[in-house]
Amino acid sequence: MPAPYSWVNKSLQTLHQANWYRSVQAIEPMGGPVVKMAGRSLINFASNDYLGFAADERLKEQAIAAIQTYGTGATGSRLLSGHRPLHRELEQAIAQLKGTADAIVFSSGYLANIGAISTLVGSRDLILADEYNHASLKNGATLSGATVITYPHGDLSHLAAELSQHRAAYRRCLIVTDGVFGMDGDVCPLPNILDLADGYEAMVMIDEAHSVGVLGKPVQAALNTLAAATGP
Ligand SMILES: Cc1ncc(COP(=O)(O)O)c(C=O)c1O
Repeated sequence: MPAPYSWVNKSLQTLHQANWYRSVQAIEPMGGPVVKMAGRSLINFASNDYLGFAADERLKEQAIAAIQTYGTGATGSRLLSGHRPLHRELEQAIAQLKGTADAIVFSSGYLANIGAISTLVGSRDLILADEYNHASLKNGATLSGATVITYPHGDLSHLAAELSQHRAAYRRCLIVTDGVFGMDGDVCPLPNILDLADGYEAMVMIDEAHSVGVLGKPVQAALNTLAAATGP
């Protein structure tokens, strides 16, 4: 009988042979777009910190003050043992910034996508997804149990055809797309997607990992709204 974990080494070998093995490099942040990697100073074009929040003095001070007051962990499941008032304040500030009725904060973008998609749709529903969507949207769609149809990147006529052909067979429908696509920096045709969705009673989910505060409302106005809502 082969050992139950012998597949691990075989899989690793395959990954190495195909040159697919990935390792993580340490970078030292230098408080801006320049980072140090293996002793060299480099400009970090791979960062998602478009608004410079990571090194913002006000946010650093508030984070330290929050740790002094609340400690470093939530100590339990939010639903069972409650949340810190600060978490709720943050959600209300984000809702105000986005002009929505409410907001919910997850501990990562990946988890937000998995949690949101599987809450909105299930096995009787349909997801229409841009082929270039981030992996977390793809995994969230699969985990939801909904039927997933992928349309060619930004192709609205294809999306319209899929809606017309399949929408009626499902209970709910969710169109899912990145707002700004992280790899190429192009923007989804949001107004047209919203128009199409209206015609087919479809929900729309936009992943704004690369667009919030970058497109639309000017960055400074966004920062001021957040600072006013969560400031000392
Ligand atoms: C469009 C998009 N959505 C979600 C994520 C996942 O976010 P996180 O790294 O916070 O899990 C990323 C990460 O880069 C992303 O680019």
